[in-house]
Amino acid sequence: MKKILVTGGLGFIGSHTVVELQQQGFEVIVIDNLSNSSIDVLDGIKEITGVAPLFEELDLRDKEAVSHFFKKYDDVEGVIHFAASKAVGESVQNPLLYYENNLNTLVYLLQELSKKDSANFIFSSSCTVYGEPDSLPITEDAPVKPAQSPYGNTKQIGEEIIKDTCKVYEKLNAISLRYFNPIGAHESASIGELPLGVPQNLVPFITQTAAGLREQLSVFGDDYPTADGTNVRDYIHVFDLAKAHVVALKRLLESKNDGNFEIFNLGTGTGSSVLEVIKSFEKVSGENLNYKIAPRREGDVIAVYADTTKANEVLGWKSELTLDDAMSSAWKWEKKVRGLS
Ligand code: WQD
Repeated sequence: MKKILVTGGLGFIGSHTVVELQQQGFEVIVIDNLSNSSIDVLDGIKEITGVAPLFEELDLRDKEAVSHFFKKYDDVEGVIHFAASKAVGESVQNPLLYYENNLNTLVYLLQELSKKDSANFIFSSSCTVYGEPDSLPITEDAPVKPAQSPYGNTKQIGEEIIKDTCKVYEKLNAISLRYFNPIGAHESASIGELPLGVPQNLVPFITQTAAGLREQLSVFGDDYPTADGTNVRDYIHVFDLAKAHVVALKRLLESKNDGNFEIFNLGTGTGSSVLEVIKSFEKVSGENLNYKIAPRREGDVIAVYADTTKANEVLGWKSELTLDDAMSSAWKWEKKVRGLS
């Protein structure tokens, strides 16, 4: 059974990917420092697959600890690297936290992988690297724009670090996956998104408002040059995203290790506006969402959605779940977490 390391494996996308890896026959080791996740997620994973992954509580900023890990687990055949800070607004307030946590850790992991006879590495990136695109849908060769936040900058720099490393360490193959907007939860409601504090992202704010945790959703602007005036995003079900990671891992494991580095957009290829997401939620939940139109949020791009041709044709992956599926699963998860019927 091939052993795969998943860093940040107790997080939102990480935990869903651990489930898919186990269900596809991989043995999983999770590293997580529990700074933005809960140890209880291990139980959620076991509820679904019957197996709790191996778990090492470890902070990847500790270079010695990372080195010790790879001495202890010298048979890891692939690494899927989710562990990072990911709040755009927080990164503006605390850039050094983001540069240390998102980049030092990447360097320490790659230093260890470059010592191995062969290594396969998947990097969690983001459509945020594109900034405000010149044209839509966005392809992988669209220009990477000057980052609009330190968070986005760490994804751009991270990809450059990997590209430069693969050029020198030809036994290292890597894939960077640029996520659009991950939403939803596992159909079992055993795992899902667990934002700490007030959610920054739209969908958890919607479900928490409907669950009574938040007074009212503010829609940040309805005067944008879009069909209904609200921002457009490519909302992809987290379970489709998890499947894409396993497809990408198999591509690496089956390919000759020759320093190859590829980038793929992971989206549905369809844009949805904020108001369309709200309508989808109301349809699948039967709830009337309490929201108001508020001023624009600094840094929001007008519209962004993926051209998924490369992922479809080269990776052999396509999203299958719909916006309604995602909103329904997000609501089912929220009700489970809050003990609502
Ligand atoms: C989506 C839309 C908001 C909250 C960010 C990161 C991206 C990725 C996903 C990490 C926007 C509107 C939101 C609210 C609202 N994160 N909104 N009221 O900003 O597209 O992407 O999260 O990888 O890298 O940049 O996602 O969910 O914050 O916002 O109206 O209370 O919902 O204005 O139009 P975003 P989001």
